[in-house]
Amino acid sequence: MTKITLGILASGSGSNFAAIAQAFAANSQIQIGVLIYNNPTAQVAQRAAALNIPALLLDHREFTNRAALDQAIADVLATYKVDLVVMAGWMRIVTQVLIDAYPDRILNIHPSLLPSFPGIHAVEQALSYGVKITGCTVHLVSLAVDSGPILAQAAVEITPEDTVSSLQAKIQVQEHRIYPAAIAAHAQTLL
Ligand code: GRF
Repeated sequence: MTKITLGILASGSGSNFAAIAQAFAANSQIQIGVLIYNNPTAQVAQRAAALNIPALLLDHREFTNRAALDQAIADVLATYKVDLVVMAGWMRIVTQVLIDAYPDRILNIHPSLLPSFPGIHAVEQALSYGVKITGCTVHLVSLAVDSGPILAQAAVEITPEDTVSSLQAKIQVQEHRIYPAAIAAHAQTLL
């Protein structure tokens, strides 16, 4: 394989999508082939349009179950000849269908130092638990939510004045740094 094509799955604002797009804009070995998003109003779609990256809406509400959505995703990824799947704020639970289509080729980023604080309230939970260090984790996706082998982590200090939004912002600075690096490192193993 001489070039790795990424397929990005995102549900929301897409700041990680933007960081990944910027990181690989001038890269001859890694390119974004397609963005798939599931919410019609997701801001990530505008980011893709501005960057001329193909974006496809697959609204989960139009599928009878999770497996049917994942089959549609796998079909789109195959059409765009995607080699590596990157979940960047993708808020759907994965099924075996997608994992079988891309074994050891689906990455996710999570806003905590896994295995602490899995799930959708990771930042709030780290703050209310009172831990002094949290961070973010890039991992390979497996069937259980926010599990799978860890590829990269970065630590973030929690200070007394932190709020959920200030902590989220500090974590995202680190996400935008480690996610492109972890994608590049994993892509190297596929080249
Ligand atoms: C990130 O904080 C990521 O850790 C979590 O969802 C958030 C997505 O943010 N999985 P964005 O849409 O990339 O701005």
